[in-house]
Amino acid sequence: MKTENNNQRGFWGSRLGFILAASGSAVGLGNIWKFPYIVGQNGGGAFVLIYLACILVIGTPIMLAEFTLGRKTQLNPVGAFDQIRPKSAWVGIGYMGVLAGFFILSFYGVVGGWTFAYVVKALTGAVLAFPSPKEAGAFFEIFIGNTGEVIFYHALFMGTCIAIVLRGVHGGIEKACNVLMPTLVIILFLLMFRSLTLDGAMQGVAFYLTPDFSKISANVVLIALGQAFFSLSLGMGCMITYGGYLSQKENLTSSTIYVVMFDTLIALLVGMVIFPAVFAMGLEPTEGPGLVFSVLPTVFAGMPLGQGVAVIFFILLAIAAITSGISLLEVVVAYFIDQLGWERKRAVLIVGGAIFAFGVPSGLSFGILADVKLLGMNFFEHVDNLASNYFLPLGGMFTAIFVGWVWGTQNAHQEIEKHENKFGFPWAQCWEFLIRYVTPVAVGIVFVAKILP
Ligand code: PHE
Repeated sequence: MKTENNNQRGFWGSRLGFILAASGSAVGLGNIWKFPYIVGQNGGGAFVLIYLACILVIGTPIMLAEFTLGRKTQLNPVGAFDQIRPKSAWVGIGYMGVLAGFFILSFYGVVGGWTFAYVVKALTGAVLAFPSPKEAGAFFEIFIGNTGEVIFYHALFMGTCIAIVLRGVHGGIEKACNVLMPTLVIILFLLMFRSLTLDGAMQGVAFYLTPDFSKISANVVLIALGQAFFSLSLGMGCMITYGGYLSQKENLTSSTIYVVMFDTLIALLVGMVIFPAVFAMGLEPTEGPGLVFSVLPTVFAGMPLGQGVAVIFFILLAIAAITSGISLLEVVVAYFIDQLGWERKRAVLIVGGAIFAFGVPSGLSFGILADVKLLGMNFFEHVDNLASNYFLPLGGMFTAIFVGWVWGTQNAHQEIEKHENKFGFPWAQCWEFLIRYVTPVAVGIVFVAKILP
């Protein structure tokens, strides 16, 4: 145990607290905002199947690898790789992870800010004033182009994450997630019930559940893979960092399964809320990033107690974003605390401030910087694409190779089986096979296919 920094680092108070916090990291805008619009743009059911395959074969084994690496080293990603293979090139993967955390939070905070704004706009009734998603969508686009408003809410979101992470792991992150996560689930079920009972909802269910494989290309598979990493918070050491606050007694395999199932169920559930509504409203599922912000307000507007439900929904979206935002911030903060010996307070304030500043151009990417494009993408899209579609899958692939071949599955196995936790036949063998062969090869193939013309 690294005693000198332990008081600055922290710990989870209970097993449930850890699972909720790790699920809080996993469940976020990736599930509620990104998943439905990516499914919509990439062909519906077939994409969902490929996504599920990525979760099962690639995501789950890597999550276990990250938890194990984290619990073993009790460090941030840079420190973790460095402790096991000191002064080797492997720390580069850790650095890429910390950088990915920085990048992701910079644009994540912008969208988090949108959700804050929509809480306010639901309270005032502004978002419910539109008879159709078209008008609601236009309203959304005007809003995200408004410099002052976007930056204000972006700052508010980052300020909230900073305030929670300042209080540390147990008192801040865990306490927040304990309340926020269960509430989220209840609300989603209510919304799904409402969506499914709209006229024409079944067409949406069909789009969502019937696979049409003609829409699948290498690029679509890469997007599904990137989404699996993003949604499970993998490939950048977030789960290494969170695993580092775990007690030695904890069962890593069952924790992995809980978190993966929770994250996947929420994403699937959100699809069951959005697509029935999209089709019932006669909207195109290919709408893009505005999907949740334009479709749902119209659904709310047409239902009894709609305004209350709208307020609650956007509060929950904001909550899901916060519990993920704090995990992103914590990775970068943990790096400064462990590796550079900074105090938590200093690390949180400086890192949080820097991420906010770097996020500003992303915030303006749909307004005054909308025409500043490189290769057809604005600043926001570039940061998202680089971090989500390259850093995360590459980070995940190298983490798998590291645990499978360099540190070795034997050592990982020992860590997993600490304190009489069983990891036996056939699961251990299955995991070993996946992490050593399947995961690295699958990610590698997707990359090569993407790079080839
Ligand atoms: N998993 C989060 C989401 O789905 C985003 C995230 C990615 C959080 C990577 C931490 C690390 O919204």
